[in-house]
Amino acid sequence: MAIHTDAEPLPRIPGDRPANAIELRDLKPLPAHVETPPVDFFDVLAGRRSRVGGSVPTGLLGKLLWHATQLRERGFDGRFGQWESRPTPSAGGIHSIRLLAIPLDADDVAGVYDDATHAIGRLDQDAAAAIALNRASVTELTAAVAGTTLQLFADPTRLTACYDNHSSLLWRDAGAVTATLCMTAEALGLNAVPLGRHGDEVAHAFGLPAYVVGLGAVHIGARSSANDTVRDPTLEHTRR
Ligand SMILES: Cc1cc2nc3c(=O)[nH]c(=O)nc-3n(C[C@H](O)[C@H](O)[C@H](O)COP(=O)(O)O)c2cc1C
Repeated sequence: MAIHTDAEPLPRIPGDRPANAIELRDLKPLPAHVETPPVDFFDVLAGRRSRVGGSVPTGLLGKLLWHATQLRERGFDGRFGQWESRPTPSAGGIHSIRLLAIPLDADDVAGVYDDATHAIGRLDQDAAAAIALNRASVTELTAAVAGTTLQLFADPTRLTACYDNHSSLLWRDAGAVTATLCMTAEALGLNAVPLGRHGDEVAHAFGLPAYVVGLGAVHIGARSSANDTVRDPTLEHTRR
């Protein structure tokens, strides 16, 4: 866990560092058509608030995942071998953070986002326990009654192998991903609110391996006048 007294991160000696693969099954493709809305960046900055909303249509969820995570460049000549460029900056270009989508409504699609195939895949375990745990957590932390939680998680193996004192890099990566998700949601006309939890329990209940760590979550909601709620900072659950 990164705290402000943690030692400075230090790159280890150069060399290839392998990553573990997480095998997904039952990959469900997300809609392939992903347009880019003509939105002004400064309107997005000015308009973003923490809000909850309604159920998120799969197509809109797909747009959010695509725009927020799209791979722009991948090289193999970094000091630790593979590096990538995506909308969010990441220490060493390692990008160890992935997203697990968990809807409050058990009928909506749940699973790990696979950006290579733009699809959502399951693990061996039934999703029901993770959906129930997540629903309880979202209810405790926000006023949401609908929507889809994007749980950030990472296998820290590769980052640990590349850096001494890697923890603060991982948490800073998580903050950057959180901001990108919130801004992208705003640009797409979706509501988003970060969740103050780590989410380890939810990630493991979904079937992710024990070495995976939860790195916070962003709850997404569809925007509609009936469901929109701007988070009230005077409420107990918003003081995080
Ligand atoms: C790391 C982090 C954790 C947060 N956790 C929660 C939370 O658990 N519940 C919630 O309603 N809002 C949460 N928020 C949202 C803040 O309460 C919100 O950003 C703040 O009140 C300012 O409002 P604004 O985002 O609309 O500008 C969190 C924000 C951050 C950055």
